[in-house]
Amino acid sequence: MIEAREPIRVALLGCGTVGSEVLRLLQNQPEDFAARTGAPVQVTGVAVRRPDKHPEVPEHLLTTDASALVDGDVDVVVELIGGIEPARSLLLRALKSGKSVVTANKALLAEYGSELYAAADEHGADIYFEAAVAGAIPLLRPLRESLAGDRINRVMGIVNGTTNYILSAMDSSGAGYAETLEEAGRLGYAEADPTADVDGFDAAAKAAILASLAFHTRVTASDVYREGISGITPGVFAAARSLDRTVKLLAICERVVDEDGSESVSARVYPAMIPRSHPLAGVGDAFNAVFVEAEAAGQLMFYGQGAGGAPTASAVLGDLVAVARNIVVAGRGPRESAYAQLPVRPIGETPTRYHISIDVEDKPGVLSQVAATFNEHGVSISVVRQQGRGADANLVVVTHSAPEAALRSTVDKIAQLPVVREVVSVMRVEGEPS
Ligand code: NDP
Ligand code: HSE
Repeated sequence: MIEAREPIRVALLGCGTVGSEVLRLLQNQPEDFAARTGAPVQVTGVAVRRPDKHPEVPEHLLTTDASALVDGDVDVVVELIGGIEPARSLLLRALKSGKSVVTANKALLAEYGSELYAAADEHGADIYFEAAVAGAIPLLRPLRESLAGDRINRVMGIVNGTTNYILSAMDSSGAGYAETLEEAGRLGYAEADPTADVDGFDAAAKAAILASLAFHTRVTASDVYREGISGITPGVFAAARSLDRTVKLLAICERVVDEDGSESVSARVYPAMIPRSHPLAGVGDAFNAVFVEAEAAGQLMFYGQGAGGAPTASAVLGDLVAVARNIVVAGRGPRESAYAQLPVRPIGETPTRYHISIDVEDKPGVLSQVAATFNEHGVSISVVRQQGRGADANLVVVTHSAPEAALRSTVDKIAQLPVVREVVSVMRVEGEPS
């Protein structure tokens, strides 16, 4: 029997793809929410920009004045507007008046997370954001809570659905980047302005959030090295295929331990070749999947829908239930943990393996000149293979792990060799021993 209790009053900011699903699901099952939280959950207002576009929202709830809604009689603010402003000011305002916050706003958290955590701490409020990374997939709570007693060494995964759709389609159809991006737009995967997705900004924001939680360190989006997918050609996929690999846009957050025992964090987003046998290679369409490696737990994999209204709403509502429960018992959820404050390692010092495709002249001595150049720069070769003959002669070199800076100098020098016609592509290799 649930004790009668005052409702938990919720302000919903934004009622677009995600917000409209949050509202629908909340309205569909009020008794369940009351039973799960210990109090009824009542939406007291819905802030939007264009109220006439929202017939799904009861008229008495609609407002364009998000600030007034936040300042009103509410316990929890659910922010689903997106972007930096006005979301940042609205959430700070809520937290500073002791109101808890649920948000899916990765861009905001990756830039201003510490400011929001500090405001939450100072005013005894909660901030939950499970939906900000990998949509429906429970990933942040496992990092923040379930694995809080373990030591995480690596988080690697596919955290952007749009680019995964594009790369999977290019791989299976052999089509070019531009036409696949156009198709992704037609099918509703890519947004009208796909920059944040295809240039890796969205994945970098998510990597910043993952690295911060995994390594108890403040990592912002600008700390994350980032490359997008617009340079990926069908030729890169053909080269990958010839070595039984495919190409995925990966977010990688790693604890790097130097020989002297000092530790740093590497956070990076780039397209990389991975073996087809790797579990991430089989993640198709707009799905997300993330590998977590922890010292005691070993390897864990999280997989599911990383975007879309209903899947993302599921994560938002899970957070809302958690926050509401905390209010009912006058408790608080986990706070920011940034005690380790490890330095962020520059990409130039981060070792990775590389796949390099080089068009060369087809004559004796070419291979030894190319190999000697790798050797001069201290980059060790793992695989070398010649494909084609005559004018089509092409060398594929896969290296052992080497720092980015050493690899860049090697490639610059190779490009200048008279026997080299063109360095066709340089792609990182992940997901196999170094
Ligand atoms: P939408 O663009 O679909 O919706 C944004 C909503 O915010 C709209 O209802 C809009 O009003 C409203 N809005 C915009 N500006 C204001 C303002 N100044 N005051 C009040 N309301 C405003 O975004 P999404 O639902 O796709 O995304 C919401 C958040 O969720 C973002 O942070 C996003 O990154 C995150 N997210 C989204 C996912 C997805 O699959 N879509 C997945 C994971 C996270 P109106 O409708 O009137 O224009
Ligand atoms: N644009 C994002 C994606 C939405 O494609 O993954 C989910 O964060």
